[in-house]
Amino acid sequence: MKALLHTVLRMLRTFRRPSRHVNLQRMQRRGESLSTLIIREATARDIPALGALHAKTWSDTYPRVIHPPTAQLREHQWREQFKVTDGRWCCYVVENSRGQLVGFAKGIPFKAEAMPDFNGELSKIYLLRGYQRLGLGSRLLEKVVQHFLQRGIRNMLLFADPGNASCRFYETLGAEKLFDRKGAFHGAYGWRDLQELLNRLR
Ligand SMILES: CC(C)(COP(=O)(O)OP(=O)(O)OC[C@H]1O[C@@H](n2cnc3c(N)ncnc32)[C@H](O)[C@@H]1OP(=O)(O)O)[C@@H](O)C(=O)NCCC(=O)NCCS
Repeated sequence: MKALLHTVLRMLRTFRRPSRHVNLQRMQRRGESLSTLIIREATARDIPALGALHAKTWSDTYPRVIHPPTAQLREHQWREQFKVTDGRWCCYVVENSRGQLVGFAKGIPFKAEAMPDFNGELSKIYLLRGYQRLGLGSRLLEKVVQHFLQRGIRNMLLFADPGNASCRFYETLGAEKLFDRKGAFHGAYGWRDLQELLNRLR
């Protein structure tokens, strides 16, 4: 019963789309501004905070899921991810002036026979609602794109929920919808030229 109530409340919250104006005002009241936020590469020290942020932002984004992954599970997943030290994956975080993480994006190499045109994947990008629509998603994306380009990866895809309002974010940035063999769209988007995307983001 409690879980159901929690789900309904989360669903109601998503109807109120974050606005740039309101988020900027609220930041100002907290003594924050865009210039006090920093974007940096995540380190293993961030794992507990990343786990909590990942759980919070994911459950806010998918309110219909009654039992979303917990912070403990996310922390475990990040701990496993950080054991991979080949330098091929990346994670960037947004940190506020109080040292709290408020957003993150992760990029990983991609390889699939069915999609040979793509070698990089934007595997996650999430911001707390109070920090959305301020250009931070674009800045995080820019970091992931730079990471791939520096490693000779010139294209990138992602898999989103096609019903997620954030698909507009990808479309605004020129992402191409990727269809399956039967012509159906399941939420995959791709950029075939990351240099072009980088130019657009700058
Ligand atoms: C998706 C996300 C990372 C985008 O980051 P952001 O900082 O909010 O986006 P930006 O401010 O850089 O947006 C750039 C442009 O993308 C478009 N856009 C971004 N979010 C949008 C939304 N929810 N609805 C419609 N358009 C959107 C807008 O055109 C926006 O420009 P504008 O605000 O001047 O109109 C962020 O909104 C988020 O964390 N969403 C919830 C988590 C999520 O869905 N992640 C993706 C899972 S696949």
